[in-house]
Amino acid sequence: MIIAITALKGGVGKTTTAVHLAAYLQTLSPTLLIDADKNRSALVWSKEDKLPFYVASQAGSPALIKKFTHIIIDTQARPEPEELADLAEGSDLLILPTTPNPLDLDTTVKAIELLEPLKVNYKVLLTKVDSRTTNGRDARKFLEEAKLPMFRVDIPLLVAFQRSPGKGVIVKDYPDPRAPLGWSKYVSVGKEIIK
Ligand SMILES: Nc1ncnc2c1ncn2[C@@H]1O[C@H](COP(=O)(O)OP(=O)(O)O)[C@@H](O)[C@H]1O
Ligand SMILES: [Mg+2]
Repeated sequence: MIIAITALKGGVGKTTTAVHLAAYLQTLSPTLLIDADKNRSALVWSKEDKLPFYVASQAGSPALIKKFTHIIIDTQARPEPEELADLAEGSDLLILPTTPNPLDLDTTVKAIELLEPLKVNYKVLLTKVDSRTTNGRDARKFLEEAKLPMFRVDIPLLVAFQRSPGKGVIVKDYPDPRAPLGWSKYVSVGKEIIK
């Protein structure tokens, strides 16, 4: 399966989602993460060789693709609408992470307006949800009213997610009492995709 993680904004958890979803899919079948972001965030994250799956640059990926069952594409901060269309065409599923922040939600609705005529399979993932507020619930309600397909689980706002890239590990391998909760949410997302 080819899954592209995209959004019209940076900082919404694309790379975090790409890395953790790749880690989950790798537990099922060989999975390749293609870092298509000029900032090479996923490649930097993988530098210490502690991620449980293979990460390649876009340039390095063509020769590798056929060796993997699942391909996750992490995309750049602000894709042009044309790039979004290209991604849609080449993927089985587009995942659009968004935080509950109203501006991010608005951008997500705009992205989906661009995707709608392309007949692509897409799903919105709420990320960085602070459980101490009702922001997550409010955002879910807003997205449901807009009739956007959403993952059943939200990704919580956790310090472990912020800190694990600095250690070159996924959240599952980061020593923090709440890290297993974060990992379990991405496992749920993965199970929703691969039924
Ligand atoms: N669930 C989360 N909880 C806390 N921090 C997060 C979470 N997801 C992402 N982050 C942090 O937010 C910032 C942006 O996330 P990132 O995955 O790099 O987004 P993008 O790839 O969309 O720019 C990073 O510092 C990352 O560590
Ligand atoms: Mg990124």
